[in-house]
Amino acid sequence: MPEKKLILTQTDINQRVKELGEAITRDYKGTQLVVLGVLNGAFIFMADLIREIRLEMEIDFIRVSSYGMGTCSGTLRFTKDIELDIRGKDILIVEDIIDTGRTLKHLQQSFADRGAHSVGICALIDKKERREVDVPVNYVGFEVETGFLVGYGLDYREQYRNLPGIFHLKDL
Ligand code: IMP
Ligand code: MG
Repeated sequence: MPEKKLILTQTDINQRVKELGEAITRDYKGTQLVVLGVLNGAFIFMADLIREIRLEMEIDFIRVSSYGMGTCSGTLRFTKDIELDIRGKDILIVEDIIDTGRTLKHLQQSFADRGAHSVGICALIDKKERREVDVPVNYVGFEVETGFLVGYGLDYREQYRNLPGIFHLKDL
């Protein structure tokens, strides 16, 4: 097993998720909010975040596959699409981590094309230095330098999702 170093505790995360929930509550008042979680990585973040948003909302999940299970993201396809009608609605995509930006760019375009009124993005972690495509992220939990992170929903080869904090995985 690779060595791992704790970088964000459960307490750090809970505090930040509360703040994000408050900001989203303020900003989305009076809209037709649909919160869309990106499986599998965002499931824990999504569960905590929506309980900090004091608004009526619909929720749904999507899943995209990037061909392969390693640390890089390649070409994308939906393996689970939305089931709600999103026309005219205000979408907030909830993602675990934004790395190159390719996944979120693709998702944002896809929902805009299908008639959403607005498409916002909330990412728990932003690895800014690794960005390859420009995508505006409306809400960011934490900015982190490059390095591979696991825990709180994030995986490495489907392991570590259940860790309550976020860890830097060394020597991959
Ligand atoms: P992007 O398309 O390069 O922005 O990739 C985003 C996706 O890659 C995320 O949804 C994660 O599934 C995965 N990913 C990128 N960096 C990490 C990481 O440090 N830990 C776990 N998954 C990651
Ligand atoms: Mg993911």
